[in-house]
Amino acid sequence: MAAYDRKDAAWKRAKEEGYRSRAAYKLLELDELFGLLRPGQRVVDLGCWPGAWTQVAAGKVGRSGRVVGVDLVPTDDLGPSQVTLLTGDVCEPEVRSRVREALGGSADLVISDLAPKLSGIAAADEARHALLVELAIDAALAWLAPDGALLVKLFMDSEYEGLVRRLRGAFGAVRTRRPPSTRRGSSEIYAVARSPRPVAATPEAGPG
Ligand SMILES: C[S@@+](CC[C@H](N)C(=O)[O-])C[C@H]1O[C@@H](n2cnc3c(N)ncnc32)[C@H](O)[C@@H]1O
Repeated sequence: MAAYDRKDAAWKRAKEEGYRSRAAYKLLELDELFGLLRPGQRVVDLGCWPGAWTQVAAGKVGRSGRVVGVDLVPTDDLGPSQVTLLTGDVCEPEVRSRVREALGGSADLVISDLAPKLSGIAAADEARHALLVELAIDAALAWLAPDGALLVKLFMDSEYEGLVRRLRGAFGAVRTRRPPSTRRGSSEIYAVARSPRPVAATPEAGPG
């Protein structure tokens, strides 16, 4: 992967505009492209630290909405009362139960920027990321309202085609897009999936 200047123009702009990271612009661009965020929505932000996507989502859903962010890393308080920040591993059923409880109803939107800590071994990192995407898909299917949507980060790697196939099997409509503010050299690409297909309910099914 190409080296990049972490403190580039987008980083400086994020600082000036009060966002916790430049990632804010990716969500703003994806929202503009896909019309994802609206006042009053319930949103789950998987892998929310340091909190830029949560900031954007909280601003868009407003006081009548709710944003539940969760990350392995504790996220510093963001202020708006519609935001709940949880710390934990989303692979743990107990953590997902806490997310669902904090949400207080079906989700309108699940956003996942989940990315594993890199080991440097490409095949292992790609497989670990693919597991997080699978988890985001299963969680979205369990939590979303019938007209809800999932926004999930993918990478153009050996797992990409399989994950898009999995998304197309789980949702009626899937589109992919690379936001313009994605840094050069990054293999990131985002998928927006709508019309979740119903899943058969079994006691141990799904990440609840
Ligand atoms: C690219 S960062 C997210 C940036 C965030 N969207 C923002 O706007 O500030 C990816 C996050 O995924 C989190 N993560 C990775 N695996 C996780 C897991 N199993 N459970 C919870 N969070 C996880 C990492 O700790 C990391 O903070």
